[in-house]
Amino acid sequence: MEKQRTFVMVKPDGVQRGLVGGIINRFEKKGLKIVALKMISVSKELAERHYGVHKGKSFFKPTVKYIISSPVVAMVLEGYNAIDLVRTMMGKTNPADASSGSIRGDFGQFIGRNIVHGSDGSDTAEFEIKLWFKPEEISNYTRIDEEWLVE
Ligand code: RTP
Ligand code: MG
Repeated sequence: MEKQRTFVMVKPDGVQRGLVGGIINRFEKKGLKIVALKMISVSKELAERHYGVHKGKSFFKPTVKYIISSPVVAMVLEGYNAIDLVRTMMGKTNPADASSGSIRGDFGQFIGRNIVHGSDGSDTAEFEIKLWFKPEEISNYTRIDEEWLVE
């Protein structure tokens, strides 16, 4: 398995509903390492760049409006297979289809209020990490339990 970094965001509804700690806790307990973390009030420009691949689709404008409606918590997580692992832990895009045990499956009900974002591939992860964080905002360090995580 490959060590990867992925961009993760607790969306406005996750922040407003007091789910930030619980969501981060799931990732930490799984063994994903937080290497960057901040709360941001997202500008329209940043939201439009982040969701640029969806420009022109029916849900583009409402999604941008949703992301700028209240602060978000943005982070970079590092770990083995981190990109797919986070996507699995988030569950399907529509919380109505997401499995119980996943973040969206446990906490969400509607596609336009799906609590959390995670990069969907290595190119996207690289793009999103650069978009949201300056290099000096990312910390390289060893977590004390790392040797106990891997066989
Ligand atoms: P995300 O990018 O936020 O992690 O979500 P995702 O990969 O699971 O889904 P994606 O297809 O990239 O969609 C981006 C976000 O747009 C909103 N959406 N609404 N109403 C709709 O049909 C619809 N489809 C997508 C969701 O907030 C989704 O997370
Ligand atoms: Mg996506």
